[in-house]
Amino acid sequence: MQLTAWVNGRFLPLDESTIHIEDRGFQFADGVYEVIACFGGKFLELDAHVDRLQRSCEGIGIRLLKSRPELIELIHETYRRNPFDHAMIYVQATRGVAPRSHLITQAVEPTLVITSRELPFPSSEKLSAGASAITLPDIRWKRCDIKSIALLASVIGKQEAARQNVDEAFWLDDEGHLLEGCATNCFAVINGDIVTHPLDHQVLGGITRYLALKVAREHGITVVERPWKLDEPGLTECLMSSTTNAVVAVSHIDKITIGDGKAGPVSLKLRQWMLDEFEAMKQ
Ligand code: PDD
Repeated sequence: MQLTAWVNGRFLPLDESTIHIEDRGFQFADGVYEVIACFGGKFLELDAHVDRLQRSCEGIGIRLLKSRPELIELIHETYRRNPFDHAMIYVQATRGVAPRSHLITQAVEPTLVITSRELPFPSSEKLSAGASAITLPDIRWKRCDIKSIALLASVIGKQEAARQNVDEAFWLDDEGHLLEGCATNCFAVINGDIVTHPLDHQVLGGITRYLALKVAREHGITVVERPWKLDEPGLTECLMSSTTNAVVAVSHIDKITIGDGKAGPVSLKLRQWMLDEFEAMKQ
């Protein structure tokens, strides 16, 4: 199946698209990205994703050459030019091409790549049994609020999770609090409240996290943004959220069974409310 990518000013067959070896994304992971879900042509929270891309670019001092409306149109066009009804659109921006040197002294044009892939859905088995995870000491940099393409720690975390036959690895701070996963935000249900780490430099401000907390509050669930640990009394459920998963229960962490070892009632309700919200947003 031939896929089409936007690469630095034109649409190309994905297999024929290339990036210069002196691109600073390749040399230094000097870039940022977004992953945006599109259901049957309707984008989920596209504005929020573009806002976050712009914040990430500002965070590392990249100025995109495309205006916001141009960028949004390119995202739509990339979706249209690819065969997936439900898609995830990757937008990746790097500082551009320059002779390899940490210090950048010349003005360079940022690289912009947009691709589309099929959006995977968690299996119904996984949704009812809950996902599984491990915890690992956080070895990432201290600006996790920027959606950087420097994902080496997350790659290592995911590899370790796969080696242990689980779905995700959650990062722990020095005191043992759960921060977030390699590609997800994470939450606990403690005494009926949804608890999640506050937004700071250790956590990405997930668009799905924002939606999940909003929907939970609208349904009368108290949301508490504070550091939390797995061994807290009253903890009955864990969950994770991302563009690619919406919200999924996590029923086993470090081989410990959470609650009764399957997706709990709050997780299931929250997922359903989220899906209802997605439907409403598509109207
Ligand atoms: N990852 N935290 C991290 C470290 C992430 O990489 C992601 C998303 C999230 C969830 O953010 P959102 O709800 O906006 O998708 C949290 C994407 C999906 C990825 O890298 O593929």
